[in-house]
Amino acid sequence: MPTPELTQVIILGASGDLTARKLVPGLFNAWRDQLLPGKVQVVGVARRPWNDGTFREHLGAQVRLPAEQQAQFRDFLGQVGYVQTNLDAAADFKALADELHWRAGGAANRVFYLAVKPELFLPAVEGLHGAGLLRQEGGASARVVVEKPFGHDLASAEALNRRLLGLLGEDQLYRIDHYLGKETVQNLLVFRFRNAFFEPLWNQKYVELVQITVAEDLGMEGGRGGYYDGSGAIRDILQNHLLQLLALVTMEAPSSLSPKAIRDEKVKVLHALRPLTDLPDPAAAIVRGQYDGYRAEQGVAPDSGTETFIAVRTFIDNWRWGGVPFLLRTGKHLPKRFTSITVQFRMPPHTLFGGWQECHLRPNRITLRIQPDEGIELDFDVKEPGQGLEIRPAKLAFGYQGHFRKPIPEAYQRLLQDVIQGDQSLFIRSDEVEESWRWADSLRAAMAASELQPYFRKSWGPKDADRLFGECEGRWVNG
Ligand code: BG6
Repeated sequence: MPTPELTQVIILGASGDLTARKLVPGLFNAWRDQLLPGKVQVVGVARRPWNDGTFREHLGAQVRLPAEQQAQFRDFLGQVGYVQTNLDAAADFKALADELHWRAGGAANRVFYLAVKPELFLPAVEGLHGAGLLRQEGGASARVVVEKPFGHDLASAEALNRRLLGLLGEDQLYRIDHYLGKETVQNLLVFRFRNAFFEPLWNQKYVELVQITVAEDLGMEGGRGGYYDGSGAIRDILQNHLLQLLALVTMEAPSSLSPKAIRDEKVKVLHALRPLTDLPDPAAAIVRGQYDGYRAEQGVAPDSGTETFIAVRTFIDNWRWGGVPFLLRTGKHLPKRFTSITVQFRMPPHTLFGGWQECHLRPNRITLRIQPDEGIELDFDVKEPGQGLEIRPAKLAFGYQGHFRKPIPEAYQRLLQDVIQGDQSLFIRSDEVEESWRWADSLRAAMAASELQPYFRKSWGPKDADRLFGECEGRWVNG
């Protein structure tokens, strides 16, 4: 059976800010650059009593675009509609199904994007299932995209997986982690496995330590306090975005680029992450903090014990990485927003040039800048010209902007295109989400023994985070 030409992208929870901030701009860019196969209709679904016209007006006012794109955006809005639906009511899903069939005027592939609160994931999928919208017939596909957080611990993620997979197949379910849509994150595999330089050194024999930071300069803007207070830095960033970066940097080479091969390797390395509860002194491996004034934020409990900063030292118990410390850190209200991965190499085996006893910075590091200033840097030492043997640090740097001279596409655009095309490589599989919760749960359990330390806004978090480095292992890279 040929697949239908039309794809309907149905955004459930379309009145929320994700729709106007990320989803509609992503779809618009892909449509404008003719990157979508066939025809596309976008249908917003929410409880608000809007119609096609009011939804388009809302998007026209909310979506930020350069002036020269406004006319094209108005054309794009011609394929955007709205269906008022109460996601708690089965009858509303039947009406939604009729409306979608009517708007399609024939067979259509469907992508249901759940931009709703996590507690609505299951009821929404039950509603879609009950209305027959998840049946894949006559060559048409029906896919569901689920935002994070997927569960709040291992038990809840397992339960959600079980319930959802009773209603649709794993091949229909796209668990999103928008970090995987970032260009620089996708490049991690190319960098590692397309180049002969790095992979031979990418193991415990040569690598001394790896640090990964996701630093944010913002706090609870946009009224996020209520959500964040129930989540904290571990559930908001570490369990998902940070562990995904870790998995891509440490996984074995997949046998092919198939989604299965890539995800199999990620699961293996996540499985090898040592639970914090297995450490003799877990509290010594964790530093957690809360920025000053957090408890006064809207939606935050006045006596909240939620961490807005977490730094942890962990290990991957496998042949490649045995004994190499991985230092992971994320926090809100730090001095600047940046995400980077630094791989620090051991000193060469023989001390020809002295300096062996000194605890100076290791000469060789590779820094993968995920954002901003996306790029890659290699640090090494050189001899300063002249008499004697003065050694100085030097750098080789590659920057995306300077090299390609074109804007880096937004993560959501790439991910939406992939869902429409049915490519699951950049989405999280059920066992992957469970493995990451298994480790995050161990961290949360171990964390109870560590103290919640206050830190000032615009500082790099509690000073104590520095002690996660052993003697002569270096320090945090801040930008
Ligand atoms: C989201 C978190 O998943 O990622 C936010 O919920 C965080 O708290 C955001 O600010 C960071 O994403 P980015 O792409 O700005 O690094």
